[in-house]
Amino acid sequence: MTDLMLPPDRLVTDTLVIRSFDVGDGPGHAEAVTASYDHLRHYMEWAKPRQSAAESELLCRRFRAQYLLRQDFVLGVFDRRSESLVGGAGFHLRGRTLATQYAEIGMWIHAAHAGRGLGTRVLVALLRWGFSEWPWQRIEWRCDEENGASRRVAEKAGMPLETRMRNDATPTGRRRNTLIYAAHRSEWDAETRLAGVLA
Ligand SMILES: CC(C)(COP(=O)(O)OP(=O)(O)OC[C@H]1O[C@@H](n2cnc3c(N)ncnc32)[C@H](O)[C@@H]1OP(=O)(O)O)[C@@H](O)C(=O)NCCC(=O)NCCS
Repeated sequence: MTDLMLPPDRLVTDTLVIRSFDVGDGPGHAEAVTASYDHLRHYMEWAKPRQSAAESELLCRRFRAQYLLRQDFVLGVFDRRSESLVGGAGFHLRGRTLATQYAEIGMWIHAAHAGRGLGTRVLVALLRWGFSEWPWQRIEWRCDEENGASRRVAEKAGMPLETRMRNDATPTGRRRNTLIYAAHRSEWDAETRLAGVLA
């Protein structure tokens, strides 16, 4: 089944469009990540104090290519009305093959939009989408134990905590305890979760 899987193009909700980054998204991406630097730098190792539109454009094109080649599925989260970028997310294989039907969701929310429930809405939307139009059987959310907002978002989206990895390391070697939350297709009741989150 996954041999021929073509990644779904986009998810449109009442307020959001969640889709692959594409040619031309660079300036908006640069604005969003630069404006969010202080908010992102603690837990997003790629964050830089200033990112140029050209750097972001190349990145968005790389994300697009990887998406089409089914290597990694990086997503932009856009406000449906204004079309501005309000965050980034993704279904990441982290070196696994599609045949494993196992993805990790990553996410950042633009500093100007954080703390208002958006991260939770995006996570719930990605879980619903991931268990309907994508082939995922297992979806993980990994976070630094000290990242209170990230932990809370996983809890609010109804992802149970499965594992606490002590003395883990980030790709650049920073030591941390990592919490792994996970949702499973066989257990996911989208309507129940959604009702709880949006009530
Ligand atoms: C983590 C992140 C994606 C959450 O998005 P968001 O839109 O701010 O999330 P929400 O508004 O839906 O929910 C945030 C929750 O965390 C809580 N929270 C915020 N800071 C917190 C902290 N330091 N400790 C504990 N809880 C905290 C908020 O009170 C809220 O919970 P509540 O609704 O029960 O009050 C966003 O803050 C972000 O981009 N952080 C930087 C990047 C990052 O850490 N990404 C995740 C990597 S795993």
